[in-house]
Amino acid sequence: MELLMRNMFQSLGKNTSANKLAKKYGLRFGAARFVAGDSIKAAIDAVKKLNSDGKVVTLDHLGEFVYTEEEALQSAAMCIQTLDAIEEAGVNSNLSLKMTSLGLDISKELCMRNMRNILDRARLYNNFVRIDMEDYEHCQISLDIYKELRREYDNVGIVIQAYLYRTEQDIADLNLLNANLRLVKGAYKESPAVAFPEKKDVDDNYKKIIKQHLLNGNYTAVASHDETMIEFTKSVVSEYNIPKEQFEFQMLYGICEDIQARLVKEGYKVRVYVPFGVDWFGYFMRRLAERPANVWFVLKNLLK
Ligand code: FDA
Repeated sequence: MELLMRNMFQSLGKNTSANKLAKKYGLRFGAARFVAGDSIKAAIDAVKKLNSDGKVVTLDHLGEFVYTEEEALQSAAMCIQTLDAIEEAGVNSNLSLKMTSLGLDISKELCMRNMRNILDRARLYNNFVRIDMEDYEHCQISLDIYKELRREYDNVGIVIQAYLYRTEQDIADLNLLNANLRLVKGAYKESPAVAFPEKKDVDDNYKKIIKQHLLNGNYTAVASHDETMIEFTKSVVSEYNIPKEQFEFQMLYGICEDIQARLVKEGYKVRVYVPFGVDWFGYFMRRLAERPANVWFVLKNLLK
């Protein structure tokens, strides 16, 4: 049953018509628990609140299904406006983005042009941009672009997913660039030909790459709500005397806020990933797929 629901949410999240419809009608079904709002102003208000709780933020302007150059340019402009708004408000947040929203599926050149414009603006503000990792189909091209950009920019990082078989090798390659990585388990539905189908194997590989990247001496963002992974990270940093400046914990907006608060209290750096924008549906479906128990939460909101 759980697997069925997981598959259903993952498919719905990729459905263009459902996404278009959701965009038209605004945040619904309790999505406001996971998405900060549909405007930059709402996003900045959320950042202010999180900063006052001792957390730093990464803002993500949601955008999926970009098919035209015009849409890709609009997305890039929104990223730049978000960086401007962060600077203007003087809040502590960097930016996360998806390269498909910047035209990756249209052409590599268009995406690179948009990325450079965004990174130039971020550099001007001494800010940082993180490239989210999408499905396997986009993995190689995303890493190729990242490597090219990393040679030009210090303020860019990317995400690596523990569920992929290739990940250990990618971490070794990215070490040559001293890459700043966010490590995650992985959120997309992938074939067993490319990704571990069993959760236990994903968890084991996650631990392996956390240790590998930290011991390589690189900045590591451990992005997980899984207490076992959080405790594992704490034990590695303690055993190998890894300074607090070399790592951070990251969690999603609205998820496991008790753990976030506890880590802040313990003196760890906690960054909250705050998505905003009208294109909320795909993101919301991925969060439901991760934890079908959240469906009860959706049903309660439908009945309200
Ligand atoms: P796991 O799935 O094992 O969950 C551990 C516990 O966390 C659960 O038992 C539950 O208590 C809680 N939990 C997890 N998900 C929840 C949810 N949706 N609602 C409520 N509780 C939940 N993926 C990707 O492919 N590319 C990316 O770029 C990113 N970026 C990213 C940024 C940040 C900051 C985070 C935290 C995560 C991502 N992810 C991601 C998503 C990631 O790959 C993964 O799908 C989720 O984090 C869920 O996995 P956990 O590590 O939390 O563990």
